[in-house]
Amino acid sequence: MKTHLITGVAGFIGSHLAQTLLEQGYAVIGVDEFNDYYDPQFKRQNVAALLEQENFQLIEGRIADINWLELLQDVEVIYHQAAQAGVRASWGDGFFAYTERNVDATQILLEAASNCTHLKRFVFASSSSVYGNAETLPTSEAICPDPVSPYGITKLASEQLCRLYYQNFGVPIVALRYFTVYGPRQRPDMAFHKFFKAILHREAINIYGDGQQTRDFTFVRDAIAANLAAATAEKAPGEVLNIGGGSRVVLAEVIDAIEEITQRLVQRRYVQKAMGDARHTAADISKAREILGFQPQVSLREGLTQQWQWIRQVYGS
Ligand SMILES: NC(=O)c1ccc[n+]([C@@H]2O[C@H](COP(=O)([O-])OP(=O)(O)OC[C@H]3O[C@@H](n4cnc5c(N)ncnc54)[C@H](O)[C@@H]3O)[C@@H](O)[C@H]2O)c1
Repeated sequence: MKTHLITGVAGFIGSHLAQTLLEQGYAVIGVDEFNDYYDPQFKRQNVAALLEQENFQLIEGRIADINWLELLQDVEVIYHQAAQAGVRASWGDGFFAYTERNVDATQILLEAASNCTHLKRFVFASSSSVYGNAETLPTSEAICPDPVSPYGITKLASEQLCRLYYQNFGVPIVALRYFTVYGPRQRPDMAFHKFFKAILHREAINIYGDGQQTRDFTFVRDAIAANLAAATAEKAPGEVLNIGGGSRVVLAEVIDAIEEITQRLVQRRYVQKAMGDARHTAADISKAREILGFQPQVSLREGLTQQWQWIRQVYGS
């Protein structure tokens, strides 16, 4: 049986990816350190159903502490999802976790992968944050990255490490620049999670800035489909690809849609714009469409509805 390895398997995206791979008949090794960037209880819940499946093996530990040569013996594809995510926490003292969990961890994994001749693909979870405030929207991969947050800097550095290991050692990397992923299990520090939770508790939601910022939102199932395609597409090795939801939406309009979905009036509290947040993001996905056959399938309304249902399960309606 083909074995695929996922780092960050207990996280939002990694746990969905594991579930899909198991459903497709792969054996999955998942690695996670269950750190406390957010309540590890969420992570335990994310892996609970995975642990019941016989083709799933969980390695609980830090990337730096793992014997990779042994673990990668039968692995064909690595999906490197583990990272210290989040833009706002990356300033100040928090930065140390970003260099360790993003840059150092990626280098350790790439080094191990470079000694693995049987490895078919190394899919790296990058981020739209590498673009910063790009002047061209939608933004294509040809635009020079210009991060506006320390987090974005570490994701760009990791991407560059991927490029080096591809060019020098032939590690078959593919970097996917996700644009704001949402859906069930979304991290509790992310906007939709916080919005839905506040609405459920009939509290006001905080909007950073004037609400006129735009985002390209990607439903998690579409991000997973991109990963699966990146693992097999012939022309993908060495490429950096945007993965977006297919349309750019003004935040204030998303909140209007949320009001309709939840059937509750949302109290909006405007707070100062957070440092490191890009004003607009929009993905030009034509390269991913061409190389991966990627086409987002889930509309924002459908995706938000699924996330609202999940939030009600988690926090009780
Ligand atoms: N969610 C998004 O909107 C988004 C957008 C762009 C990029 N990304 C990237 O996608 C990936 C997954 O994001 P997510 O939202 O699922 O994050 P997440 O925080 O839910 O998951 C990451 C997991 O990695 C684990 N981890 C971190 N460092 C580790 C280490 N050194 N060793 C072992 N485990 C470690 C954490 O415990 C966590 O469970 C990350 O690389 C993130 O930077 C996410």
